Amino acid sequence: MVEPADIDALVEEARRAVAGAGTTEEIREVASAVAGKKSALAGVGRGLGALEPEQRKELGRRLHEARAAVDQLIEGRRAEITAAELARELAQSRVDLTEFIPGSVPAPKARGHLNLVTQTQAALEDVFVGMGFLVEEGPEIETDWYNFGALNIPPAHPARGMWDTLYLDLGPPESTLLRTHTSPVQIHLMERAVAQGQLPIHAVMPGRCYRRDTPDARHLPVFHQIEGLVVDKGISFADLAGTIEVFTTAYFGPDIHSRLRPAYFPFTEPSAEYEVTCTICLGSGCQTCSQTGWIELGGCGMVDPAVFDAVGIDPDLWTGFAFGFGIDRCAQMRHQIADMRVLTDNDLRFLRQF
Ligand code: PHE
Repeated sequence: MVEPADIDALVEEARRAVAGAGTTEEIREVASAVAGKKSALAGVGRGLGALEPEQRKELGRRLHEARAAVDQLIEGRRAEITAAELARELAQSRVDLTEFIPGSVPAPKARGHLNLVTQTQAALEDVFVGMGFLVEEGPEIETDWYNFGALNIPPAHPARGMWDTLYLDLGPPESTLLRTHTSPVQIHLMERAVAQGQLPIHAVMPGRCYRRDTPDARHLPVFHQIEGLVVDKGISFADLAGTIEVFTTAYFGPDIHSRLRPAYFPFTEPSAEYEVTCTICLGSGCQTCSQTGWIELGGCGMVDPAVFDAVGIDPDLWTGFAFGFGIDRCAQMRHQIADMRVLTDNDLRFLRQF
């Protein structure tokens, strides 16, 4: 005969079993064991029929409460388990979005490029290398002898006024200065060629030069020249004129003309000024070319015998020509830059165009 205490014991047993279930599978098994058709509680229910009506009513009520309590325990536990399993699943399948954020990866550095003047120097070298010239360099700080003396410009010669510069106080025996042109590199090359027995010479010498000039549309106090020197046998003024013409068309295109005007340089005889059609106005005259239609790019001439004497080359055996012109001026003319001062302004809007 079933007592109410037995029902309480069954509920207590069910409570423990339910608490011990950890997974959906376990709670399903526990539920069937403590509340299913074959459970002890179900058995109690089946036995009620055999009881007296009074007893049956009382026990039936207790059983009903017990089953409700057990069902509630099971459902409570099932909800806990489901929630825990869901949480575990979420944790496992969680996507860490921060993995996809660039975070502290540094921005790629912007790449610069060569300044227009440097690009121009390379283009000029290419033209001359194509004509068989070597490319040489010399120092930017020169002695009085290399910048003037050896170039047939003795001290106090009025021609020195054409090339005023900054003098460096490096002490005796010789005064030193920032070179005013690339012509002193001619002297270095000829001395080396004589010392090493390596004549003839066909070379261009690009580099930076300095003059005490006030900047304007066509002048910068720090600028660049490319010097040319040919020392060989039987070289004539026609070779010079032809070389200049070939260079002009190769670099500026067939529409730009060159002309040589008589001029004076102490280290060439005869001497000429090398001019090209102003590419800004195409010859009609403008502010950049001072209304002449021509732009002076540099000077040239046949190497003066006095220069050959200074370096120990026999002027009766060797002849040669030399030229020197502005690289910045070439860039200005080729790209139609009205005012050369923008080359040193460091304005990226200008520089990025080239
Ligand atoms: N050195 C001269 C100048 O800077 C140019 C030049 C070079 C002239 C070579 C003749 C020969 O003005």
